[in-house]
Amino acid sequence: MAKIIVVTSGKGGVGKTTSSAAIGTGLALKGHKTVIIDFDIGLRNLDLIMGCERRVVYDFVNVINGEANLKQTLIKDKRTDNLFILPASQTRDKDALTKEGVERVLNELAKDFDFILCDSPAGIEAGAMMALYFADEAVVVTNPEVSSVRDSDRILGMLSSKSRRAENGQDAIKEHLLLTRYNPERVEKGEMLSVEDVKEILSIDLLGVIPESQAVLNASNSGQPVILDTDSDAGQAYLDTVERLLGEKVPFRFLTVEKKGLLKRIFGG
Ligand SMILES: Nc1ncnc2c1ncn2[C@@H]1O[C@H](COP(=O)(O)OP(=O)(O)OP(=O)(O)O)[C@@H](O)[C@H]1O
Ligand SMILES: [Mg+2]
Repeated sequence: MAKIIVVTSGKGGVGKTTSSAAIGTGLALKGHKTVIIDFDIGLRNLDLIMGCERRVVYDFVNVINGEANLKQTLIKDKRTDNLFILPASQTRDKDALTKEGVERVLNELAKDFDFILCDSPAGIEAGAMMALYFADEAVVVTNPEVSSVRDSDRILGMLSSKSRRAENGQDAIKEHLLLTRYNPERVEKGEMLSVEDVKEILSIDLLGVIPESQAVLNASNSGQPVILDTDSDAGQAYLDTVERLLGEKVPFRFLTVEKKGLLKRIFGG
């Protein structure tokens, strides 16, 4: 049985696509057959972050409209076995995703995949609602700032009222908090909310904390999910996150300011 996981946030630009690419790659690396679907109709970012934009022939909307089948449309990742991308359409028609169409595609994917990751567009309008509607679990991507936490709270409300699980009276969507762009130095200075603050406001399970990192920018510029940069702090934090998603107990890292050693303090660096 495939697990459908939506990566959502409410607020835009908090790191959903970055996280979808990293977590999807991580799940595939762990041996689970995984597909990442780009629900961001009109924008299409996932293929850029995954470095497969030149290989897009057909897209999600083509499959829904019956203009192409999944086999023709899914892009097999060249670096990671078990990993496939379903790219978004660049159509301007925001209503191109119908509930029936999305359900049919998800049902077909569910026969073949262990994990279906839905990279949601920002906001709480139709596109974001479609991305979360069929989810079994949700990764709520949040930055440690008030506006992001507020929008995550609104999305949590949607998850518990506007999803298929809610409408059918099934078990609730399992919600996970993923705190991204975390900067311990700024937290210490009181410029950002701390992990504890965010946990307390949203009161959902903490899945991961991804530090603010230059490695994310380098990775996205080179079209490679940051989780493959195993020397980087962000890459390691995403790996920990994937292991927690798979039920492993993994201690949290990168939560505090790295204390500089004596030599570093004297000589800089
Ligand atoms: N941990 C991080 N450290 C530094 N920069 C980051 C981090 N995570 C994401 N970013 C940067 O933040 C920007 C937004 O990231 P991303 O596109 O993943 O967000 P999004 O939530 O998918 O945005 P949208 O709502 O537009 O879909 C990108 O420039 C990305 O490189
Ligand atoms: Mg995005």
